[in-house]
Amino acid sequence: MEYVHYSVMADEVLHYLTPSPEGEATLVDCTCGEGGHTHRFLSSYPNLSVIGLDRDASILAKATVRMEPFGPRFKPVHIAFDVFFKGAEAEQYDLILFDLGISSYHYEESGRGFSFRKGETLDMRLDTDEPISAIDVVNGYPEERLADVIYRYGEERYSRRIARAIVSERRLSKIQESERLAQIIYKAVPPAYRHGHLHPATRTFQAIRIEVNGELDRIEVALSGALRALKRGGRIGVISFHSLEDRIVKWFFKGLAPEQVKILTKKPAVPTEEERNENPPSRSAKLRVIEKL
Ligand SMILES: C[S@@+](CC[C@H](N)C(=O)[O-])C[C@H]1O[C@@H](n2cnc3c(N)ncnc32)[C@H](O)[C@@H]1O
Repeated sequence: MEYVHYSVMADEVLHYLTPSPEGEATLVDCTCGEGGHTHRFLSSYPNLSVIGLDRDASILAKATVRMEPFGPRFKPVHIAFDVFFKGAEAEQYDLILFDLGISSYHYEESGRGFSFRKGETLDMRLDTDEPISAIDVVNGYPEERLADVIYRYGEERYSRRIARAIVSERRLSKIQESERLAQIIYKAVPPAYRHGHLHPATRTFQAIRIEVNGELDRIEVALSGALRALKRGGRIGVISFHSLEDRIVKWFFKGLAPEQVKILTKKPAVPTEEERNENPPSRSAKLRVIEKL
């Protein structure tokens, strides 16, 4: 099987989230994906077991095959991380990792319309059992609500123009396909914006994906649950990819320090220049780590 995702800041993650060498330890990988980080942990620390969570059953199936050599040290759970911690007992895990967002698998292999470069059905659900897909958002939201989503979750300055163009096109026929949506956006923005360093559809696609999956709303709920489920002396590491996510993590951690947690990354850790060159999408990554007191 091929694994397409490059695990971001793996050395830094392993450095901060090192289990104590004595006894057994458990790490919850809240965003297991294809299991790149989990594989590094299981290979590096023989006394560690990993519970790997993912909302997406198909990517978790890939991780499960990859982790077969580790036998019972890996336990996959198909669940959203915020829901997992609601049912978790207090103070039982040693280490918890969140690597937020989506995986290269979603763009390249899932066939669910995450990439504006492909002609795929506009789905964008991580969990395909959820009722709302990108088709519903793009074709069903009133213009103003659509513009707000694109502005808020995409930080897109042409959100109003883009929403207007989507609404006028969907009157002609339902927008069901990622490439068509990308073209509508491309035509809606000023010519100069079409040739910037980002494709003009990048921000809108990010926004729709965040809306479809309720991504931001889940982070704080999950972090509070994770903190409760973490043992004293245990650590939580969070990798975020854009300022909307990072802001939530930063303020959540600040609100707990210095009484409940020690912040181990006064400034967030960022990828080395070598990693940024090797894997350009890692450029925006930030890692924040706390220890529970
Ligand atoms: C950046 S990828 C993780 C990559 C992984 N760390 C690796 O090294 O291969 C993020 C993963 O988190 C999953 N995910 C996103 N939101 C989630 C949530 N609320 N609960 C559980 N999994 C989620 C996505 O389906 C995706 O597979």
